[in-house]
Amino acid sequence: MKERENFGSKIGIILAAAGSAVGLGNVWRFPYMTGENGGAAFILIYLFCVVALGWPAMVAEFIVGRHGGANPLRAYERMGGHKAWALPGIVGMVVSTVICGFYSVIAGWCLQYLVLSLTGNLAIDSTASGQYFAEFSSSAVLPTVWTVVFILLTYAVVVKGVRKGIERSSKIMMPLLFVLLLVLAVTSCVLSGASKGIEFLFKPDFSKLSPNVFLEAMGQAFFSLSLGAMVLCTYASYFGRQVNIVRSAAQIVLIDTLVAILAGLMIFPAAFSAGIRPDSGPSLVFITLPVVFGKAFGGATIFTYAVAFMFYLLLALAALTSTISMLETGTATLSEETRLSRRSAGGIVTLGAMLIGVLCSLSCGAVDTLKVAGQSMLDFCDFFTGQIVLPINSLITCLFVGYVIGSRVVSDEISNCGTLGRRWVPLYMFTVRVVCPLCIVAIFLHFMGLF
Ligand code: TRP
Repeated sequence: MKERENFGSKIGIILAAAGSAVGLGNVWRFPYMTGENGGAAFILIYLFCVVALGWPAMVAEFIVGRHGGANPLRAYERMGGHKAWALPGIVGMVVSTVICGFYSVIAGWCLQYLVLSLTGNLAIDSTASGQYFAEFSSSAVLPTVWTVVFILLTYAVVVKGVRKGIERSSKIMMPLLFVLLLVLAVTSCVLSGASKGIEFLFKPDFSKLSPNVFLEAMGQAFFSLSLGAMVLCTYASYFGRQVNIVRSAAQIVLIDTLVAILAGLMIFPAAFSAGIRPDSGPSLVFITLPVVFGKAFGGATIFTYAVAFMFYLLLALAALTSTISMLETGTATLSEETRLSRRSAGGIVTLGAMLIGVLCSLSCGAVDTLKVAGQSMLDFCDFFTGQIVLPINSLITCLFVGYVIGSRVVSDEISNCGTLGRRWVPLYMFTVRVVCPLCIVAIFLHFMGLF
């Protein structure tokens, strides 16, 4: 058995796991969902979802990871007492590698836009911006090269190990991300006419709430907290015995939610001040926002490019701390289950992620045949992992913790063998046994169009 590393500090744990959770989802989906679905009313629902479902589900992954003390595959197998229990771990390893591949395509686009902002070549006119993005994303070479570069960057961090690679880089990147986000949010909020954007984001409109909104909020909560891909389970296997997992999970949930709300305060005030109604997804980030920056900061000025540069840097950092967690999951599993060194196992997983990344990148227009079920491979991977595999794996994790491993283990993990008190254990057991599974099934049926 190879020697296993641990995280060196509490803050390192929080920043690394929050780094995994904070990603493109926080910036390009949450603000839009909030604005469209009733502002502060939606935020309340979302808060309820992350606290009542996301938090317990995260604690469940932490319990398996720390108690198992190994990669997800072995942790499940050990705790479940049967070989078949390795399955959620295997699925986690595969799915996190697939997500790493397609997520890096979009992160690669951010790198290109970072260079464009730096060299003053960003298209800020509304037609030019749309045209540029359509041309760039459908070309064969440049986006593919950036995808590969981004995955190599991820590998460069992961190969250095848990403390020197993941923990150290998170301690640098996460504070930088926060500073950038704060600077951009403040800049956006002091623009003239910004208050309309703030109002759009926060004005509670309870009439917009519906069961659908509730289900969407739940889905977003699971995605945004990186649940189901076993990345948090992998990270938890590096937690020391003294870590308070319930409190750590709460802090990670808090950071992720705070970043999402701040992202709204960065995007909406600037967009409304420029007289543009923002949308979501890639078109928001790569088509709409360049135009917003141009309008808000007086055309092709140094401010426009400086703000754009900070914004794409922020996105690239957010994506990198997420891809690191995805690559680590596959790397840890492969190296511990075989005789391969971390370096070689990481290399193999990196190649796998690259293959998927390159195919997804080419599927955006360069090669027409790369379609699955009528969608580009990129969209298909996104849909298939985010809306099918991740919820199912989260469901299995909750049931595993609720019914298979026994409440004694859960109680010992939550209370650190009694030192933190066991008062909340019964409520927790009820949540993972009943509340989380029912809600996940509901989200799943909803996304499948059955509910
Ligand atoms: N939470 C990330 C975001 O908001 C995306 C994500 C979803 C993720 N599932 C994941 C990241 C699994 C790492 C692992 O962008």
